Amino acid sequence: MTEKKYTTNYDWPDSGPSPELIERAVPIRFIKNCPNLIAEDYTVDKESIQFDANKPFFNDLFSWTSKQINSLTKSPGVLLFKLGNYHLTDKQLKSLYYAIAQGLGQLNSRYGELFEVRDRNLDHTKEAIPVSKTSASTGFHTDSTALSYSPDIVGLLCLQPAEIGGESIFANAHDLLQWMQNYYPESVQVLSEPIIRDVITPGSKADIEAIKKNRFPVFSFDNDLFQFRYMRYWIITGHQRSQTFISPELIKALDRIDEYFQIKDNLFYYKMEQGDMLFINNHFICHNRTKYEDNERQGKKRTLLRTWINL
Ligand SMILES: [Fe+2]
Repeated sequence: MTEKKYTTNYDWPDSGPSPELIERAVPIRFIKNCPNLIAEDYTVDKESIQFDANKPFFNDLFSWTSKQINSLTKSPGVLLFKLGNYHLTDKQLKSLYYAIAQGLGQLNSRYGELFEVRDRNLDHTKEAIPVSKTSASTGFHTDSTALSYSPDIVGLLCLQPAEIGGESIFANAHDLLQWMQNYYPESVQVLSEPIIRDVITPGSKADIEAIKKNRFPVFSFDNDLFQFRYMRYWIITGHQRSQTFISPELIKALDRIDEYFQIKDNLFYYKMEQGDMLFINNHFICHNRTKYEDNERQGKKRTLLRTWINL
């Protein structure tokens, strides 16, 4: 990577973010007046948004959401709305979440606009499926392994937290880049080259050639927009499945990323509660989830509703 002027817009304060720094209140008028957007089959009823009588509500809401975007495009890059105390039904929560997400940007439908993150008793180490369909720890990552698509913002609505575990952990990848430039500049160079990733997106052909073409840098600047696109697991399996040699320099660079994630002061922990809406910048914030266990006796499964949003 060539010399670059870095903006400090991305950087976290030395103490890292705190729940107070990332939490914003949703005005009560939006909570009380949000129309039901969720149809009987739990899909989104889009006509409700277009409906004339709802226009003043959405104009008001979208004007408010446009003022929240700064917290996402710049530090801290994480935005939390806590609605658990309002005793809203799942349908009301989903409606408000969908409306806020719509206000933030364009929703991607690659996995459905509202994708349920819950354990489907699958194992991502046995088949190429997203870790969002398992209860395993994900490792630090940014979402999407596809060359052609990366969400700007990842949204999560917590409908049911896990019985045990399932905590979210965040790290600031721009801080990581600066740390690496100080201590291991040669690894920054390695991670700025295009690197193979596994192909796991549904509907995409996962043959060797497709995986070999699915390569892009971990660190990049596109028109001064910093992007960190990373998940160690899919980098390793992408090389293995496409029978591509992994250089020792690449392994060393990945180990150094892990070294950064092992320093507790670099991390921000948050366990989502029922009614929490969390929005994360997917370019300079990477996230991790600890492994979790559901309460099988009570049939309660950890359920989050994910959105992928582009600004
Ligand atoms: Fe994720």
